[in-house]
Amino acid sequence: MISIEPKDITSAKLQGYLQSSVGPRPIAFASTMDTDGNPNLSPFSFFNVFSSNPPILIFSPARRVRDNTIKHTLINADATREVVINVVNYDIVQQVSLSSTEYADGINEFLKSGLTMVPSDIVKPYRVAESPVQFECKVNDIIQLGTEGGAGNLIICEVVKIHIDESVLDENGSIDQHKIDLVSRMGGNWYSRSNQGLFEVPKPLTTLGIGVDEIPQFIRESPVFNGNDLGMLGNIEALPTREEIDIFVKENFAVKGVLSADDILKQHQKAKEYLNNHDVLSAWKVLLAKGISS
Ligand SMILES: Cc1cc2nc3c(=O)[nH]c(=O)nc-3n(C[C@H](O)[C@H](O)[C@H](O)COP(=O)(O)O)c2cc1C
Repeated sequence: MISIEPKDITSAKLQGYLQSSVGPRPIAFASTMDTDGNPNLSPFSFFNVFSSNPPILIFSPARRVRDNTIKHTLINADATREVVINVVNYDIVQQVSLSSTEYADGINEFLKSGLTMVPSDIVKPYRVAESPVQFECKVNDIIQLGTEGGAGNLIICEVVKIHIDESVLDENGSIDQHKIDLVSRMGGNWYSRSNQGLFEVPKPLTTLGIGVDEIPQFIRESPVFNGNDLGMLGNIEALPTREEIDIFVKENFAVKGVLSADDILKQHQKAKEYLNNHDVLSAWKVLLAKGISS
């Protein structure tokens, strides 16, 4: 483990550590307009939703580490108090990246990136037609976090209208996480495509798990299980009964074979196979079977 105080390293190095370890970060594709009516479009991954009532999104154009200059998006948002935040899916990621090029003041990144301007209903900045969800926002506040290169500026946006492409909706009218195909930013040049590695974790609220502390020590300290495995094992409401375990072993040839080898690691590995398939109950049956067979 290396331990660092931020003041002891360069801003660029610190920025790298922060951006490479806090991720994946959602991307706000922010559309603004300057006071002369010129459109501007740029991505920002210092971004998230912070409140639903009122609906608040916050993103942060930072002062450049290189030369401490500030970004057009910040200047425009401050001057006009209006922004459209468009979400970013895989289909537009290259164009989004292109739009982050430091074009001169007044250059329209919609044109540079080949994306389509759609007039908004309430605010002046345009929406990005290709983005599956677009938020028209009023700027409530801007909080400056510092005056040196790298300092963020929180643009606190209240959503006044939401536009959703029907093609990302499921049959209940909710946004389908596979269809929306969002991408997010990680460190360096890395992005993450949510759609390629989606997995679900059941909410602990729906069941009262026994807890990791109730897992027998020989399982908790097994080199086979990692924290995720123990979390799954601890999220079971009740352990299988002896009768259930007996039936399971009797009917399961592969498990019987593992038990007869009398090798605790093999037994744990078998249980892990079940965990990998999200079958926590069978994993427990394998883990507790030894006491019965011996
Ligand atoms: C995916 C992505 C995310 C970015 N996130 C941020 C960010 O959160 N804050 C920031 O200051 N710059 C960020 N940038 C860089 C800006 O987009 C870039 O500086 C842009 O030129 C600013 O444009 P503007 O001067 O027109 O506002 C990001 C770039 C990319 C490609």
